[in-house]
Amino acid sequence: MMEIKELEKLHPKGVDFSSNAVSEETLLSRIDKLQLPKHLAIIMDGNGRWATKRHLPRISGHREGIAAMREIVTLARQLGIRFLTLYAFSNENWHRPTAEVSKLMRLLGLYLKKELKTLMTDKVRLKAIGQIDRLPKSIAQLLLSVEEKTRQNKEMTLILALSYSGRAEIIDAVFNLCGDLQDQTISINDLSETVFSSYLHTAEIPDPDLMIRTSGEIRVSNFFLWQIAYTELYFTKTLWPDFRRKELLIALLDYQGRERRFGKVLQI
Ligand code: IPE
Ligand code: IPE
Ligand code: MG
Repeated sequence: MMEIKELEKLHPKGVDFSSNAVSEETLLSRIDKLQLPKHLAIIMDGNGRWATKRHLPRISGHREGIAAMREIVTLARQLGIRFLTLYAFSNENWHRPTAEVSKLMRLLGLYLKKELKTLMTDKVRLKAIGQIDRLPKSIAQLLLSVEEKTRQNKEMTLILALSYSGRAEIIDAVFNLCGDLQDQTISINDLSETVFSSYLHTAEIPDPDLMIRTSGEIRVSNFFLWQIAYTELYFTKTLWPDFRRKELLIALLDYQGRERRFGKVLQI
């Protein structure tokens, strides 16, 4: 294993953290715990391709994807990330073959049942966002019960985006907002970005600081459209089932090397 000084010699302009030679411990030691994203959002993509490459059915990729998910949730919690959103199923994903959708729902149910104990030990609160009423009744009930049981957990909020669509979320917000205007619960003069945000599924959750998408696709696929106005984006070719601890640390180091300007001119 090469040490950081040797790597710096190889890459005079900076360390190539993506090198396989860098150990997890080295990566971890380089993370600035004070500069972590408060909210990390991930588009977990590439399960199908992971399986196809191995001549396995797509569901094997989803199963392995759950293993990656567990590893990433644990690391995020260990690091002290306060909000982690995982995009697990989009509204558009309903158009996939029924067999794949039902197997995915079964996996989700198994994950929720198995995970409750860990969520409680790690003090992680679970929150589901999206059109939850479109999910099979048993899954929706399971989600509700895990949300209820983990409600008091304060260390991290794990947000699962299920049957989620950014545009549908905005329309729902407009619909509810119009209702409140009609009922005079709020006045048109009160409308602001903050007020509008409070009508989204992510009310009370800060906008993501970093959004990661795996599998090499450079698009957002209807995820967090309003919320990503100033989010840092990170794309990697790694397929989701292969996105493990080191991959997340590399993404976080990349994020920590960026200059977030929010439209301002930096003070020298
Ligand atoms: C992501 O993997 C998981 C879901 C969208 C449910 P995919 O199933 O999209 O995998 P690819 O993109 O076909 O490889
Ligand atoms: C995005 O992945 C949705 C999730 C990861 C849940 P897709 O595989 O559905 O997106 P497209 O079809 O490549 O845009
Ligand atoms: Mg995909």
